Amino acid sequence: MAQGIALAGDIVVIRAAALILRFLKAKDRDTFAHSLRTASVAKIIGRALGLPQKELRLLRYAAALHDLGKLEIEPSLLKSTALLGPEQMTTLRAHPLYGARLVESYPPLRTLSTIIRHHHERFDGRGYPDGLAGEQIPFLSRIIAVADSIDAMAHPRPYRPSSLSRQQILKVLEQEAGCQFDPRIARTAMELLLGGKLVWGWHFGQIAGENGADLPR
Ligand SMILES: [Fe+2]
Repeated sequence: MAQGIALAGDIVVIRAAALILRFLKAKDRDTFAHSLRTASVAKIIGRALGLPQKELRLLRYAAALHDLGKLEIEPSLLKSTALLGPEQMTTLRAHPLYGARLVESYPPLRTLSTIIRHHHERFDGRGYPDGLAGEQIPFLSRIIAVADSIDAMAHPRPYRPSSLSRQQILKVLEQEAGCQFDPRIARTAMELLLGGKLVWGWHFGQIAGENGADLPR
């Protein structure tokens, strides 16, 4: 987990994160909206897992900024609907490293670096960038991985024009528990979905009109 070093004070962190999100919004509106929705979903899962306030705060900011490394990637690649070649995949898959490096360079956000770096690791060790497995992966990164995937499935993507239904998402979470996802976190997300706590459109509406300054609290 990413304990040990606290985030800097509220105002500094909120302003820095809001600025980064404004850059992201200017560059790629879809990634911006996805980032805020992922933060909202991650927060709901984190609460259900009983995370203390300090960890929840780290989780919200890391989730909101998890894809900031895409700032360093060509928009045409981010929006490509074609099947990507190996070189393009390598470039795209570098975004967790780029994002980690960006927050590492700014001390008030440095604590988020490791969490962001590992948000595409898989529980079975077949993810990237480091191929970490199980509890080697920071816990908050494992929560973001689930929230990130749920939001990706619930909305159209450049490579998949239609979203998945709640039933289809539940099926993926079940199938991937212990493979792509931490089984405990996947089960918690399934319970939230089945209990109506994660409702499409609802958590997006909570995000105050996509205003980068209105980070999820
Ligand atoms: Fe990502």
